[in-house]
Amino acid sequence: MDHLETRVARHYTSEDLLGRIDAALAQLGLSGRNPDDLKPVDEFHTGGLEATDALLSQLEISPELKVIDIGAGLGGTARHIVHRYGAHVIGVDLTRAFVETGRALNERAGLESAITMIEGSALNLPVAAGTADLAVMFHVGMNIDDKDRLMREVARVLRPGGTFAVFDVMRDNTSEELVFPLPWASERENSFVAHPLAYRTAAETAGLELVTQRNRRDFTLHYFGRVLEAVKTNGLPPLGIHLLMGETAGEKLRNYVANVEAHRIAPCEMIFRKTP
Ligand SMILES: C[S@@+](CC[C@H](N)C(=O)[O-])C[C@H]1O[C@@H](n2cnc3c(N)ncnc32)[C@H](O)[C@@H]1O
Repeated sequence: MDHLETRVARHYTSEDLLGRIDAALAQLGLSGRNPDDLKPVDEFHTGGLEATDALLSQLEISPELKVIDIGAGLGGTARHIVHRYGAHVIGVDLTRAFVETGRALNERAGLESAITMIEGSALNLPVAAGTADLAVMFHVGMNIDDKDRLMREVARVLRPGGTFAVFDVMRDNTSEELVFPLPWASERENSFVAHPLAYRTAAETAGLELVTQRNRRDFTLHYFGRVLEAVKTNGLPPLGIHLLMGETAGEKLRNYVANVEAHRIAPCEMIFRKTP
């Protein structure tokens, strides 16, 4: 791991994550054997499961597909793909605590034979060339400065005609400084939010052509409007992504919404196809 990767993994590491998730599940009377039990905490990106389904529904996913989830976190999206579509998924993530917790959650759901969780880097994917039909990446590129290398790695592991579907936080239409801390970085030095055009240019250079692109600003503001209203009325739920963000979770989410409102950033979907 290089220095940035060490800092990123440290940012996402917290004490006894599985124990805290289990305590929250117990409070809700849930076991985690049904992958849907975990959705409030294991889809660690804007819009949670709603956003996952919004992107996946634009793809053709069948049981025989080999999928790679880049920066898979706790493996929530990987379990969802297996549970919903029956495909096989390799989840790769830098943060050991997430990979280990993800493996435990896979076993509990009886999905361990369909998902392989590997500790590794998006910039050096532990996957053979040309073996993946589909690569997905949810809210990871903000931690990666070398987008050219990222796209070269994705292009390397995809088969010709394979698909890369991304949902990342990207720059919107002002270049003003972001306000920190944010969910992916507590300070500016660890944040590499880029404009969609930078993704597109890096992808095209690597042999990935853009199929669709969709700015998700309005969805994001509606989603957080609902979430913040529910927290105001009912308090914090036992199970949620706040378990992954430490003591400054509230500040990180408020800054995030403020940056979106100010047009500094916007989550954006992009779907690419590897040229045959
Ligand atoms: C905001 S979380 C999203 C996790 C997951 N995709 C999800 O949506 O639930 C960002 C994840 O990216 C991982 N990550 C960041 N940089 C990475 C890199 N260079 N290689 C692999 N994983 C990385 C982090 O460890 C973290 O788990």
